[in-house]
Amino acid sequence: MDNGGRSLNRKDLLGIEELSREEIELILEQAEGMKEILERPVRKVPALQGFTIANLFFEPSTRTLNSFLLAERRLSADTVNVSASSSSVLKGETLLDTAKNIEAMKVDMVVLRHSCPGAPHFLAKRIDASVINAGDGSHEHPTQALLDLLTIKEKFGKIDGLKVLIVGDIMHSRVARSDILGLRKMGAWVRVCGPPTLIPLWIDELGVEVEYNLDRAMRDVDIIYVLRIQKERQKKGLFPSIREYVKYFCITPERLRQAKEGVVIMHPGPMNRGVEISPEVADGPWSVILDQVTNGVAIRMAIIYLLARRRR
Ligand code: CP
Repeated sequence: MDNGGRSLNRKDLLGIEELSREEIELILEQAEGMKEILERPVRKVPALQGFTIANLFFEPSTRTLNSFLLAERRLSADTVNVSASSSSVLKGETLLDTAKNIEAMKVDMVVLRHSCPGAPHFLAKRIDASVINAGDGSHEHPTQALLDLLTIKEKFGKIDGLKVLIVGDIMHSRVARSDILGLRKMGAWVRVCGPPTLIPLWIDELGVEVEYNLDRAMRDVDIIYVLRIQKERQKKGLFPSIREYVKYFCITPERLRQAKEGVVIMHPGPMNRGVEISPEVADGPWSVILDQVTNGVAIRMAIIYLLARRRR
């Protein structure tokens, strides 16, 4: 776990966009140390005793919320959880008032998931506590991208030079945006594929290739990163039907016969089995989907530790 006294030289972790390659490398290296703790018989260290973290989750979450909670507990931090459905947000309290009230209880760090892009950035400017973005609308999901980079590094021993295909609803995906930014910073080459209505025109600015035909798109890549159709963020039907989406974009074992040998399948979850990914692929030898989840705890431990260290 010791990293020679290094910390992240920033108050908050808001997006991959702001991080340098060196900072990403530091987080990945720290997470590798955290994985060693998670393999011990007693998976807990006293590093953050007396440090308090509030988890403000205003959108549903299984993986992110619970891996943050576990990460905080493994580091011996004290935690409070606030959700929209069980807090005074229901009575009309604003995000800023909620955060200021939580901060008044002497909280050192806030982990925020919110449907509004930029909500963590808004909060970070207005409170002294460190803010970690746990997903803001369709903008960024930096901790997901970092756990994905850790999973890729473990699987291939490197990130530089790999070819990655991201398939699905690129338009509404904060994961796609953060992963593209992270993969490009770490030297990987990225292609995106999906229905034209789900690939935004600004995607070119991120330095990726666009291919609308999945069979052509998957042929030469090392990793296929599958995204779910985000029905909750689509205002109107952006493709004719689920049946048609499955026909053209579902990743199946038959389709994977055209892919490179050893191709790896990733998915951030939650999956829609039988829509963007078949159960045989999700549970098959190609899949590192549960490794991503395991790495989520180590990455979040690393980020919390590196930000907290700067404050102490
Ligand atoms: N990958 C991800 O963000 O999953 P949750 O929505 O369950 O947190």
